[in-house]
Amino acid sequence: MPQRRKIAAGNWKMNGLADSLGEARAIAAQHPAPGVDIVLCPPATLLARMRDLLAGSAVDLGGQDCHMAEGGAHTGDISAPMLADAGARHVIVGHSERRTDHGETDTQVAAKAQAAWAAGLGAIICLGETLSERDSGRTLDVVAAQLTGSLPPGAASGNTVVAYEPVWAIGTGRTPTPEEIASVHGFLRARLPDPGIRLVYGGSVNAANAAAIFAIADVDGALVGGASLRAADFMPIVQALERA
Ligand code: 13P
Repeated sequence: MPQRRKIAAGNWKMNGLADSLGEARAIAAQHPAPGVDIVLCPPATLLARMRDLLAGSAVDLGGQDCHMAEGGAHTGDISAPMLADAGARHVIVGHSERRTDHGETDTQVAAKAQAAWAAGLGAIICLGETLSERDSGRTLDVVAAQLTGSLPPGAASGNTVVAYEPVWAIGTGRTPTPEEIASVHGFLRARLPDPGIRLVYGGSVNAANAAAIFAIADVDGALVGGASLRAADFMPIVQALERA
């Protein structure tokens, strides 16, 4: 079976102004030849400037969401071809904050992933249970349904990364136990349409817990929120992934 190259992706969410670009520059400069894939997903307003300052570096760019249409009358939305034009090579779709804030459904997430592929982007497709779903013992049913509904036919290692992000672990400082992560990742891995698809964990990953999370079977990397905003917080996570 081909080795899955590890991946550390940073999701800046609705954070970052021009003066944050130095953090991306520092990440690229500190690691000219990383042993893992590194992707930064800044707000769309910073994509083109970040592309320019990362030119020639090993750090890839990603968007945080795309519309399912190529273009048209959708005020405020951004299409996948626009992200590609601005320098993105990946796009996050189906993040729980999009599912919650904007009512996005699995069907819409799948359509967005297809739009991403059509524009030549890789889709980082997110899923994960809420706390009440976990507490009522429904985690595996929920993630199974999200996986089935959010991955379009044709999902493969070259176009898709799946991110398991338990909603209750995002931005809370709480993480599942290693056993809980292993259980969900093993369950999802067995249901992926292509064994080469990378499966990353997200939710309160930081420099202190990264090594333990990356030691878990079937964890191919991380989707990092808050700890990706500063090079000093993100680089130890990248280094832990390289050592894993
Ligand atoms: P935090 O790392 O801030 O918990 O965010 C995780 C996340 O939502 C990444 O997409």
